[in-house]
Amino acid sequence: MTAPSKTGVAIIGAGPAGLLLGHLLRAAGIACVIVERQDRAYVESRIRAGVLERTTTDLLRRLGIDARLNAEGLIEHGFNLAHDDLLIRIDVSALTGQPVTVYGQTEVTRDLIAAAPERDLDIMFEAKDVVLHDVTGDAPFVTFTRDGVTQRIDADFIAGCDGFHGPSRKAIPAVACEYEREYPFGWLGILADVPPCHDELIYANTDAGFALASMRSATRSRYYIQVPLTERVEDWPADRLWDELERRFAPLASRPVVRGPALEISIAPLRSYVFETMRHGRLFLAGDSAHIVPPTGAKGLNLAASDIAYLSDAFIAHYRGDESGLTGYQARALARIWKAERFSWYLTKLMHRFPEDGAFERRMQIAELDYVAQSQAMQTAIAENYVGLPL
Ligand code: APR
Ligand code: PHB
Repeated sequence: MTAPSKTGVAIIGAGPAGLLLGHLLRAAGIACVIVERQDRAYVESRIRAGVLERTTTDLLRRLGIDARLNAEGLIEHGFNLAHDDLLIRIDVSALTGQPVTVYGQTEVTRDLIAAAPERDLDIMFEAKDVVLHDVTGDAPFVTFTRDGVTQRIDADFIAGCDGFHGPSRKAIPAVACEYEREYPFGWLGILADVPPCHDELIYANTDAGFALASMRSATRSRYYIQVPLTERVEDWPADRLWDELERRFAPLASRPVVRGPALEISIAPLRSYVFETMRHGRLFLAGDSAHIVPPTGAKGLNLAASDIAYLSDAFIAHYRGDESGLTGYQARALARIWKAERFSWYLTKLMHRFPEDGAFERRMQIAELDYVAQSQAMQTAIAENYVGLPL
């Protein structure tokens, strides 16, 4: 075992939450270190959603890690909800004064990792067997193994940014603070270097189930369809998936669905989850370690970013002698989390076919979408949630 090192905030996990927190703390001159289980290539290749709220792009701009975001991000002034052949455009810029930015989470992660050395942010990749110690005492610490050597980091605080499966949440007793909903289907996604079939996203509720046409750039498309949880990727050769996408988007999109070699095909389950104890002694949770949203509405990364906006401010205030941010962190974060949970759940229920639903529920979905099509009030309510509620 090497001699213990000492830092201000020991951050577990180098996903978007941990990386943003690390950069914001370093920019304020606060000592911190990130310990990450995976290697850099693995972290940089994970494919996730790609719609950024202004709260998220503001953080990247504040850090000055925005050159590629500014050059390559697509400013989207609207998105579409659809059923049958009805396309309902939600003009988010006109309704809220704010667009969203299409820029992949993978790119955000790469930009944050690339900027780390020049900003003196230490990311320790391939840290195995991370264990949190004494989180409710005055001197918490983290141990892990790297290159066969056991290491220990003493810290003032531990930030649990280690996603849904990480050890941080498990270090907190789950007494009456866990809320969960699983959905009886998953999303089968494909990423391909082909031009998108529409200039803005289309979330479609079709007779065959939900489908989403999204993109990463003018030449890279991202599509998803709803599939039963029993399906496996092997059941979906690319041509079968393209046939299905063509069928679902032909009546809705402005251009045909173009086929091309798949860069990735995967199936992800959908889940809503909140763990309300986001502070336990000197341990603070942020991002997916504390909550999961279904991908409908693309709130996952944005919610991790807003947690970090609150938590970084709270740590910075602490080191200036003000405890109120840390004391209020959980309540502030949860108020926004629950609203994003509500919106993701609402959009999931509105746009998917649930196996237990019959013809009546289907009519309810169509009636609601027809109402959205006619009501500016409904469109505004959807738009202000989609672009992100204020911090
Ligand atoms: N030790 C160290 N690191 C760990 C451990 C562990 N035992 N377990 C998990 N991690 C790392 C993961 O490898 C990952 O890099 O923690 C990181 C968590 O990152 P994310 O899962 O991306 O979570 P978060 O940063 O909260 O970002 C939330 O990103 O993951 C998406 O869908 C999610 O969009 C949401 C957003
Ligand atoms: C994506 O582009 O991957 C994406 C977009 C919007 C969503 C989910 C995923 O709601």
